[in-house]
Formats: sequence, C-alpha cells, structure tokens
Amino acid sequence: MKTLLKVLAALVLVGIACLLAFIFVPVQRTEATAELAANFKPAEGRGEYLMRASDCMACHTNEGGTPFAGGRAIQSPMGTIWTTNITPDKETGIGSYTLDDFRAVLYDGVTPNGTHLYPAMPYENYRKLTEEDVVSLYDYFMHEVKPVSNKVEPTKLAFPFNIRFGLRAWNWVALRGEAGFAPNTAEDAIFNRGKYLVEGPGHCAACHSPRSVLMTQDGIDETYKSFLSGGEIDNYTAPDLRGPSSGPQKWGVEETAAYLATARNAHSTATGEMMLVVRDSTQYLTQDDNRAIASFLTKIGTPGQQAAKSADAPTPTEELLSSAGPDMPLGARLYLDNCGGCHLVNGKGAPEIFPELDGNSLVTAKSSKGLISVILHGAELPSTEKRPMKVRMQGYEDRLSDEEIATLATFLRNAWTNKASAVTTQDVEAIRKLGNAH
Ligand code: HEC
Ligand code: HEC
Ligand code: HEC
Repeated sequence: MKTLLKVLAALVLVGIACLLAFIFVPVQRTEATAELAANFKPAEGRGEYLMRASDCMACHTNEGGTPFAGGRAIQSPMGTIWTTNITPDKETGIGSYTLDDFRAVLYDGVTPNGTHLYPAMPYENYRKLTEEDVVSLYDYFMHEVKPVSNKVEPTKLAFPFNIRFGLRAWNWVALRGEAGFAPNTAEDAIFNRGKYLVEGPGHCAACHSPRSVLMTQDGIDETYKSFLSGGEIDNYTAPDLRGPSSGPQKWGVEETAAYLATARNAHSTATGEMMLVVRDSTQYLTQDDNRAIASFLTKIGTPGQQAAKSADAPTPTEELLSSAGPDMPLGARLYLDNCGGCHLVNGKGAPEIFPELDGNSLVTAKSSKGLISVILHGAELPSTEKRPMKVRMQGYEDRLSDEEIATLATFLRNAWTNKASAVTTQDVEAIRKLGNAH
C-alpha cells in the first residue's frame, strides 16, 4: 500500500513538472526548410494559384462577405470556431505578420503571440508546403490582397477546449515528421506533383482520411495505409479514394481529372462539401495539375473494375424497373415515378449531366446523410469555367414523406450492383430537421 502511495505521489510530481514545462517552455516555431536566394521573387500569379490550390478563400470568407476578411463559422463537435481576417489589415488582419510569423501559422498552427490555433485550420497538411510556396503565399497576402478592417467574433469553445495550450500536446501527436515536402524518389515527376498537391496545399486528407481517437488525421501521406481511405465531415461521408470500388480507381486518370476540374464526369457529380472544393479550388488548377492529382490517386490505389458496359446483360434491378409491373415493390415504383426519367432504369444516367447511381459512392456511403440530403433538397452543379452550364436537380422535400424517402433510399442502396445498409424513417426525419444547409 505504502509503495503504491509513493508511486502515485511520484507520478503526481512528474505530472506537475510536465505541466509546468508545458506551460512555460516557449513554443517552438519551425524554421524555413530551405534557404532561398536573396533575390527570390515568386513568379507572377504563383501566390494566387497556391491560394486556390490551398482553398484559403473558402474558409476565410463569410457567406457573401469580402474575400479573406474572415467571420465564417465552422461547426465542430466542441462548438463554433470562427475564421479570422487574413487580409493585410494591421489591426484586425495579418498586416503586421513577418514571413516567419506566417510560416509558423502554416507549419505549427501558432500565431505570432504564441496562441495555438485549432486544427480547423489545416496546418497538419500545410506543414508540407515548400519554402518557395510559403514565400509566394506570403507575398500574395501582403501585396495583392487589399486590407479590410473587419473584427471577427472571437472563438469561445466550452471547457476544456477553450484552454488552447492543451493543443500543444495534441500537436506533438498530430504534427508528424519534418516540415516541407519529401518527394517519393521511386516515382516520376508527375506522381510527385500530384502527391504534393494532395498531401500539402489540397489538404485532401482533412476530409478523406479517417480520424484517430485523438481526432488527428489518420494518414497524412501515402506511406500510411489509412491515408484517403475515407473520412467523415459533419456526418457526411468523404469517400474512400483508394479502394477498388472507389471513384478514382474505377474512373481512371482522365475522368478523375475531369471531376476535379468541372465537378462532373461520365459517371458522377460532386455534391456538398466536394462541390465547394471544386467550385473554390480545383477548378482553378491547370489541366496538368488535375491530371497529376488523378495520376497520383490512381497509383496509390488498388485498380478497380471498370463499370459494366451497357452492352452487358441487364441487372435484375433493370429488368424489374423495365417490367413496370403492378406488383413492383414501393421503392422501385418511387424510383420509376420520380427519378428514372433522368437517372434511367439502368441507373447509368447521362454522362456529365445526370450522374450514375449504380456504383455511386454517395449512394452507397456508410453514412446515408448525403443521399438523404440530395433527395430532400436536390443538388446543383456549379458553373465552372470549363463547364459553364449550371445543372440542377430539384428536391423532393414537399413531395415525398420520410417513410417514402427511406424506402426509396434503401432501394437505391441495393439496386443494380449497389450493396449498402438500409435507411430508416428516423434517419430521414433527423436530416429533414437539419434543414437545407447548402
Ligand atoms: C478548412 C478551413 C481553413 C482553410 C482551408 C484555411 N484556414 Fe486559416 N484558419 C482557419 C480557422 C478556423 C482559423 C482560426 C482557428 C482558431 O481560432 O484557432 C484559421 C486561422 C488562420 C490564421 C491565423 C490568424 C490569426 O492571427 O488569428 C492565418 C494567418 C490563416 N488561417 C491563414 C490561412 C491561409 C494562408 C490559408 C491557405 C493557405 C488558410 N488559412 C486556409 C480555417 C482555415
Ligand atoms: C471539405 C472536405 C473535402 C475536402 C477538403 C476534399 N474532399 Fe473530396 N469529397 C468530399 C466529399 C464529402 C465527397 C463526396 C461528394 C459526393 O459524393 O458527391 C468527396 C468526393 C470526392 C471524389 C469522388 C469520389 C467518388 O467515389 O465519388 C474525389 C475523386 C475527391 N473527392 C477527391 C478529392 C481531392 C483530390 C481532394 C484534395 C484536392 C479532395 N477531394 C478534398 C469532401 C472533401
Ligand atoms: C430532372 C432530372 C432529375 C431527376 C428527375 C432526378 N435527378 Fe438526381 N440528379 C440530377 C442531376 C442533374 C444531378 C447532378 C446535380 C449535382 O450533383 O449537383 C443529380 C444528382 C443526384 C444524386 C447525387 C449523385 C452524386 O454523385 O453526387 C443523387 C443521389 C440523385 N440525383 C438521386 C436522385 C433520386 C433518388 C431521384 C428521385 C427522387 C432523382 N435523383 C431525380 C437530375 C435528376
């Protein structure tokens, strides 16, 4: 008993010592990963391009607000996190940042006064930016963005998450490896360009990798098996990008690149958070860069089966729908009455207009939230430079009951070659209550 007490006392002392060290040892800031020539000047447009590839504008702009002036609410399980003003305004923005201050935000998630940022700012990924790109971004924000005075709401999370120094311990776990980009020397330049864009600026893992028990990204580069194996954002599935039945592995390089450039391809369309990623970020990338991303994704994945050709024998679902018999189950009838006109009885839709529902990752996602939201509220493809036409599917909120939507969704999740769990009336009810966020 006595020894146990002694051990406990010792542990308490060690704990206190650690805590003190934790609070009083100054925060480390990662230094530049390369020394650039004194006269290094980013090429015209490079900073802006990097900003697009990193999608800084999407988070740091409020709905309808001035670009980069902050104030957008990001919902987290711990409460609302408000994005900050990153225009070069001296009082309310980042006008007094030095290059070292700016780098510390991107690499370490630390502001000039030593405050730790919440990882809603994806510094886990931006840590991989090269020094040239850090300087290009800095140059862009300081000289090309106009200063805007806008004081944003301070973020106040509930205890204990309001104690930001707790993030120091979190960062020891989350910030793995050296800062900067380490190419895979066994692969070619195109692969490595894609690897850089995906792992660094594109922060694809922030949504497409699962989370560890500590909520760090589980897999921040291709060396992790779990990297891009599927994650969740706001109960919405960000699908696996590497398995044999995932989009990129079934589609191949050209169709995946088309999806990133235009939010649509011969098989699918981007909805929800991914529609926003395409609208605000990947549509601005060059075709070579989107191809490089697609090429990287297909190389780190397990090749998938190409979707069945229409010449193949019809599936039982297609036969059932084509028969349109009087004893057809409710799910199939709801599909024929409401959806089949566009998505067709074979579930193949029409390339670049009506997405394929057979083998569609949103339809078969682990979480049915995305599918239910699309049926309730419809979806709209953004107009992109390469595909300016807007395409809309209306919502069925007023036409179908929760029970009907559950039956229809369950049918779709098991139609053609799909195989996924059933959807309940309660699932639909819960999502209807959330209203239309997009
Ligand atoms: C996914 C959303 C998201 C993206 C993308 C994003 N940020 Fe942030 N950023 C945030 C949030 C949220 C905060 C505030 C976090 C907090 O309060 O702890 C933040 C904080 C910052 C800060 C600290 C400002 C201060 O002094 O308080 C800077 C600087 C910054 N971001 C720059 C950038 C740049 C540059 C990019 C693009 C390379 C970027 N951010 C992309 C969400 C984002
Ligand atoms: C903010 C979260 C988020 C980020 C960041 C994000 N994605 Fe996505 N992504 C999603 C969601 C959610 C979907 C599902 C959309 C749908 O089914 O319509 C998706 C779908 C996709 C798909 C289609 C997969 C399929 O099987 O249908 C591809 C390909 C993709 N993302 C690639 C990327 C790449 C590459 C990046 C980084 C440049 C990226 N995503 C960044 C959330 C995100
Ligand atoms: C008038 C034609 C039309 C009808 C009718 C229609 N849709 Fe759609 N649907 C579309 C278009 C266009 C899109 C692409 C919009 C987007 O993704 O932003 C789409 C997208 C979808 C998606 C998202 C696919 C993805 O990859 O993100 C699903 C799921 C879907 N529809 C299911 C249905 C269901 C179920 C019905 C019947 C209740 C239905 N649709 C009726 C035209 C239609």
